[in-house]
Amino acid sequence: MAAASRFVCQSCGAEHRKWAGRCDACGEWNSIAEEAVTAAGAPGGLKGKKRGRQLAFESLTGASEPPPRMVTGINELDRVFGGGLVPGSVLLLGGDPGIGKSTIALQAAARLGMKGVRCVYLSGEEAIDQVRLRARRLGLEASPVQLAAATNVRDIISSLSAERADLVVIDSIQTMYLDTLDSAPGTVGQVRGSAQELIRHAKETGAVLLLVGHVTKDGQIAGPRVLEHMVDAVLYFEGERGHQFRILRAVKNRYGATDEIGVFEMTDHGLDEVANPSALFLDRRDQDVAGTVVFAGIEGSRPMLMEIQALVAPSALGTPRRAVVGWDSGRLAMVLAVLDTRCGLALGGHDVYLNVAGGFSVREPAADLAVAAALISSIAARPLPKDGIYFGEIGLAGEVRPVSQADARLSEAAKLGFRQAVIPDAKGRKGTIEGMSVTNVGQLGKLVDLIYGDDGRP
Ligand code: TYD
Ligand code: MG
Repeated sequence: MAAASRFVCQSCGAEHRKWAGRCDACGEWNSIAEEAVTAAGAPGGLKGKKRGRQLAFESLTGASEPPPRMVTGINELDRVFGGGLVPGSVLLLGGDPGIGKSTIALQAAARLGMKGVRCVYLSGEEAIDQVRLRARRLGLEASPVQLAAATNVRDIISSLSAERADLVVIDSIQTMYLDTLDSAPGTVGQVRGSAQELIRHAKETGAVLLLVGHVTKDGQIAGPRVLEHMVDAVLYFEGERGHQFRILRAVKNRYGATDEIGVFEMTDHGLDEVANPSALFLDRRDQDVAGTVVFAGIEGSRPMLMEIQALVAPSALGTPRRAVVGWDSGRLAMVLAVLDTRCGLALGGHDVYLNVAGGFSVREPAADLAVAAALISSIAARPLPKDGIYFGEIGLAGEVRPVSQADARLSEAAKLGFRQAVIPDAKGRKGTIEGMSVTNVGQLGKLVDLIYGDDGRP
């Protein structure tokens, strides 16, 4: 058999027998590249080959105590890790360029270094001096972190074997390459191959491996989605340009809860943790403005209040504009359709703008009721009470459905000085929150009546 090459989609990792302009697995254009197959990666069955080693099976109960987690002392970060780093685990930290991945990675390593954890920081993107400069800016230059600028995985693994590190940061995985592969750094083959070797080494030595990875515009870790399956935790660093807030979100975590978030603020001396994010996303306004409501949400394990703004204006266009920032536009279309069909509030001739303040993006369906309230308030030109909060999921029949953790949402709101809440009917839930007057709405129509008040609907 001739030395085979294969054709691999650089977007999804699917293999093809011949080159094509479009990958039929993921639909991406111009993403297929030729890669040489190494002997180790050559396809072939096991039948008729030499027998494998006998495995020793074990029971589920074991005598071994799990080693303690490594705690960085940065609470927002430790929370996302699930209470600290688990020795031997592999993490992938993704995010747009410039969002602060290198900064947070260096901060974590330096903090752990000062606690006596042996940390190695390998930079494939920046020179040693640049990393030092950043460390000085962060005020962490005294930490005993071992630095190196390297991209060759063979060199890295040899050096690590001598170093015996507890934490290895690879910044970034897209710059690493295996000299046994022909393809360029950053291609699927290289990223997957390099990651595989680094992960194998980390698992053997019990070190924590933190892989930094870039993310493309549509939110995929550039190139290899395959990487997400190889690691124990995937963390995304997100935030809007022009806002100093950064949110670290665990989208996969074998050792902790997913959807847990950590909130940070980018300052001139690095990323500061934000201990009370609710206060951050609320814009303290003095004037009453129609179309502005506060949504009591849950992010990961904690309640978080944020402001949702809607502007509904008559449209001059044949197809009115629907512009959404921080929420799902499909979900907005659904709320608009329910308002139209079930409540007789036709917004078909209006432009609708919806915005979650502070650059945050809300994913919970529980925001439906708050969005609806913002829309109704805007079209009715009636400001809502400043000390009110809203949450609830809206069904297609116009019903308002209960959502999880209602009590946690209410008490967070009460803690921050809110005194009124409009929430779904609480079936079987008796608890009341002190100082908070709760209005239950079972149907969206009731919310419309509530906002329009005595005037009645249009
Ligand atoms: P960086 O961590 O290099 O981003 P990434 O590794 O994700 O590409 O962060 C770069 C940005 O952060 C850059 O625009 C400068 C800004 N920054 C600060 O505002 N303050 C700081 O203390 C540091 C280190 C960076
Ligand atoms: Mg970087």
